[in-house]
Formats: sequence, structure tokens, C-alpha cells
Amino acid sequence: MFEDLGVFLRLGEATEVVTKEMYDFEDKGGRRVALRPEQTASVCRAFVEHRPVTPWKVWYAGPNFRYEKPQQGRYRQFDQVGIEVLGVDDPYLDAEVISLAMQFYERLGLRHVTLAINSLGDDGDREKYTNALRAYFEAHRDALSTESLATLGRNPLRVLDSKRADDQAVIAAAPKIKDFLSSEAGQHFETVLAALQGLGVKFALEDRLVRGLDYYRRTTFEFISTELQAAHTAVGGGGRYDGLVEALGGPSTPGIGFALGLDRTLLACDAENVFAAPLVAVQVFVVDTTGGAHAAQVCQELRLAGISADRAFDNRSMKAQMKAADRSNSRIAIIIGTDEVAAGTVVMRPMAGGEQMAIARATLIESVRKEITGK
Ligand code: HAM
Repeated sequence: MFEDLGVFLRLGEATEVVTKEMYDFEDKGGRRVALRPEQTASVCRAFVEHRPVTPWKVWYAGPNFRYEKPQQGRYRQFDQVGIEVLGVDDPYLDAEVISLAMQFYERLGLRHVTLAINSLGDDGDREKYTNALRAYFEAHRDALSTESLATLGRNPLRVLDSKRADDQAVIAAAPKIKDFLSSEAGQHFETVLAALQGLGVKFALEDRLVRGLDYYRRTTFEFISTELQAAHTAVGGGGRYDGLVEALGGPSTPGIGFALGLDRTLLACDAENVFAAPLVAVQVFVVDTTGGAHAAQVCQELRLAGISADRAFDNRSMKAQMKAADRSNSRIAIIIGTDEVAAGTVVMRPMAGGEQMAIARATLIESVRKEITGK
């Protein structure tokens, strides 16, 4: 969870996650340390440190920390599960990585997660585009909100993220990244899209998708839950970061990956009702009017046989115990009174109705199992 602060500082001054949202401090040894805001940079740091054989495929899961204004779906501590692949720039890998994330959501049972995708081009393309955007927004300063004017000074790309109504007209007419892609980057993106189609992965081209971290090059994407009402509907995101290993002092190495935000994914699961309410009912409820010692033994016997069981306590009346049995929603009640103890039997009552019967105490497990499973 802790990382050398320098790893994140190298992600660039325009990265808001780094400049505005990072928890950092000096430890007792005078080292400057950060609580990690994300894990891709740490994976690249580990790559530079250990120089594993490529392609290097890794995954991670755990908490991250960002000093943001907490609200629904946006927390200061949140969990991610992610994967990264280093050493391959083949566009078919991009499609494989993206489809893996989509499969995760699908297998979880989510049906309303869409993929938004864009290409930010190579280093030079991105720079040209950023300059063109800056020039365009500068020429339309009057039409921008004060918040966006402040963002423009730091990073013109981020102005595209503005959700403010007064910025929308000027943003809609802004230059588009696709007109700035080099032919290599354009070709790479075309192949990624064709590969996705080949794998049956649906996507929406989103030329305003720039993402919050500045290390992205070429393919970038986000997974959006259309069922979430909150302002933060991205349940995951990722992309290529072909220059990052180099920026951290390693050899030129391409990389791509994604991180799924678990907190928001769980909110999406709730919104889609993916997890049914847990069934809390026990299979058998034991009623014992002789003091409770028999119920103790019967419950233990049932549980050891893998049959869930509960009982009433405090030696309450037959009526009170039967009420408790009703409330437990159990399939069967086992009733033990002094007559049954004397006869070496118990009474088995199907709670959904049907004949109750006396069964031999010795055949309890067998009879209960037969009643529950029909075998
Ligand atoms: P990210 O888009 O900053 O990307 O975060 C990925 C996901 O983490 C988001 O889509 C969201 O679900 C979740 N998330 C982010 N911030 C918060 C927050 N404050 N509260 C709750 N959930 C949050 C990255 O972190 C990149 N490292 C992804 C990546 C991997 N790119 C390449 N490889």
C-alpha cells in the first residue's frame, strides 16, 4: 500500500491524482512515501526493479487511496482488481485485455456495463492534440466556465471531462483526437476495434475519453454502468501506457492493463439486483418441551450430518416455541415432549403443511434427510 513518492511524481505534473489527490508523508527515516493512489505505476516500478522476462502478465487486488471529496461511489479508500501485461504492443493483446474485463462483469451477472473506447495516439500525437485544444479553448475563453478556465491552465485535455452545462457547446465543437493520430497509431486502433468485433465485444467510440492519468498512449477505455445513478458510473478503466516503464528508468517497454473498481462494481450489482437476498432459513427447527437437553443433542446430531438446525431456548411453552419455529422459515420442525422421550421417538412436522409423524429417535437423520431431499 506504501510506495516511494518519486514513482508517482514521475507520472507528471498534469496528473490530478498525483498533484491534488495523493496522501503523502515523510516517514521516520526521512523517506517520502505515498499511500498508493493506483497500482499500475507500482507494477512498472517492480518491472524496472526485477526485469522479468516479457511478456510479463501480472494481476493485483487491494486498496488504493485518493484524497477526493467523498460521495456516493467516490471514496478516499477504494479497492481495485487489475491486470497488466508488459512487453507487447500487438493490438490483439488490447482486445484480449478488454474482453477479459468484460467477461468479469458478465460472469458476475451484470448486464448493463458498456465499453467506451478511444485512442490517445502516441506521444507526439497527444502533444499536438493538447496544443490544438489549448489554442481552441483559449480562443473560446469567454464561453468556458471559471472551473474549466482553471483546468485549462493545468491540462487542456481535462477540460473535455467537464460535466458543466455551460461548457458543453464549446466542448462539442472542440478538435477531435482522431484527426491527430499518426498513421501507425490510427492503424493500431483500427485493428483493436476489428479484433473486438471479432471477439463479439460491443463498444462505443468516445472521442472525449481522455482519462485522469497522464501516462496513457493509444488505446484507452472505460467500463460504464448504465444502471448507476451516481455521478461516477465508471466501474473500471484502463489502457496502454507505452512510455511509462521508460519514464521510471527502465528500457522502452509497452504496457497495457485495466483496474476494476470493486466498490462501484458492487454498487452496480446492487442496482441490477445481481445478488439475491441471502436465504437465512434453517432446514430444521427443534422444539423441546422437556427442558432443552434433548434439543441440544438433536441439533448437534443434525449439524454434524450437514443439516442446518436451530432451536428455541429458555424452556418456553410449546406455543411460544412453535411460533419461533414458524418465524424460522424452516422446512421441518422436530418436536420433543415427555411422551416422545419415553417412547424413544420424536415428532417430525413438515412446516409447509402435510401429515406430522412420530419417527424413531434412532432414525432421525435418515428420516429428516428423506423429508428434505425426497431421497
Ligand atoms: P482509474 O480510472 O483511475 O484507473 O481507476 C479505475 C477504477 O477504479 C475506476 O473506474 C473506478 O471504478 C475505481 N475508482 C477510482 N477512484 C475511485 C474512488 N475514489 N472511489 C471509488 N472507486 C474509484 C486506474 O487506476 C489505472 N491504474 C487503471 C489502469 C490499469 N490503467 C492501466 N492499467
